Amino acid sequence: MNILLLGSGGRESALAWKMSQSPLCTNLFIAPGNGGTAAYGKNVHVNPNNFQAVKTLVLKDNINMVVVGPEEPLVNGIHDFFLADELLAKIPVIGPRKQGAILEGSKDFSKQFMVRHGIPTAGSKTFSKDTLAEGLSYLEHHALPIVLKADGLAAGKGVLIIDNNEEAQRELELMLSGKFGEAGTTVVVEEFLTGIELSMFVLTDGDNYVILPEAKDYKRIGHADTGLNTGGMGSVSPVPFATPEFIKEVEESIIIPTIQGLKKDKIDYTGFIFFGLIKVDEKPFLIEYNCRMGDPETESVIPRIENDLVELFVAASEKKLNGVTLQISSKSAATIMIVAGGYPGEYEKGKAITGIENIRSSFAFHAGTLAEAGQIKSNGGRVIAITSLQDTFFDALQSATADAARIYFDGKYFREDIGFDLA
Ligand code: AMP
Ligand code: GLY
Repeated sequence: MNILLLGSGGRESALAWKMSQSPLCTNLFIAPGNGGTAAYGKNVHVNPNNFQAVKTLVLKDNINMVVVGPEEPLVNGIHDFFLADELLAKIPVIGPRKQGAILEGSKDFSKQFMVRHGIPTAGSKTFSKDTLAEGLSYLEHHALPIVLKADGLAAGKGVLIIDNNEEAQRELELMLSGKFGEAGTTVVVEEFLTGIELSMFVLTDGDNYVILPEAKDYKRIGHADTGLNTGGMGSVSPVPFATPEFIKEVEESIIIPTIQGLKKDKIDYTGFIFFGLIKVDEKPFLIEYNCRMGDPETESVIPRIENDLVELFVAASEKKLNGVTLQISSKSAATIMIVAGGYPGEYEKGKAITGIENIRSSFAFHAGTLAEAGQIKSNGGRVIAITSLQDTFFDALQSATADAARIYFDGKYFREDIGFDLA
């Protein structure tokens, strides 16, 4: 079959790498892809948010399946667009419709969903412009720190954690008057949970699900989890503190109620669900849903899946995931994200990248790169993800870190401590 993968990050590189290994995959197209994805298929200059352009591409290249990497086209309704079009309606789309993607697209909706279905999460209250006065008085005596979340998609910047009641009041006012644009016209005020974070993922067909390997993402830019938040500086899988008992507890108290909740709410869902979790003492709480895989979690999760990924997608699209048994490698994966100097603030693009061929025991999953006249250049903040899959957790960390050092471009930076806190 001919498959179209939408997206351009490290996540899409890992998905493309894996899908291209499937005997079911005749041709793989990646739109728009990056400087590395052409090794797995054909890059096509189409913006995933331009649905008409996606349609033209799908019809021209006889695409039989579309896999959506990032959240934006899903939240904007690409799956609904396919279903509503006579020529596209029968082409399976891996990724939920708008009614399911809203689990990520609206923090208020997802919070109400969690509460409605008895899923453990932080206590919260939602405010809008009309209830600002109520919000300000609610914040006056709120326990510290206070978590403020812009309701809509805010490119990972919409969550503020504030240690002072007056400052939280000021921020609420700023958010409700447009600090994050439309995304912040509704704000969820949440109780702060203290614990350690990790992520779990399922692929679901709406009735059945398979649990993918768990992962931990390192979000801060600096050594020992200091400094600004980023899209993710590295990841590991498995997560040593996610014991089988803990994972069972997540399945029972969070995953099953979510799948059943979607059914009860008549939300038909095909695709990935990403559970952003926090372990408080031994108990899991759900911080957020995403309607897609994580980045850079995917780069550590996908190499541990031994099944044919395209076969899994076909089963998901035919509501046959109950017939699938996931084979997970017992090896450990570690991913180090090499980023541009200055990231997550301002950074330069267009730097020539060398040394990729010197990597010894890792995969280089390109993220923000482009190929120009035979040269790979940086083209984003997160540039290349280096993933190592090894027999032991420690070996994976060490070899990913050593291989990240073998790549060079002007201003390059990476964290040398990813995963070592858990080793
Ligand atoms: P989110 O976009 O909801 O994942 O939030 C971004 C980050 O903020 C999370 O990864 C957590 O580190 C932190 N965070 C969000 N909500 C809470 C909470 N209720 N308690 C503690 N930390 C939180
Ligand atoms: N790494 C976190 C995310 O993909 O949202």
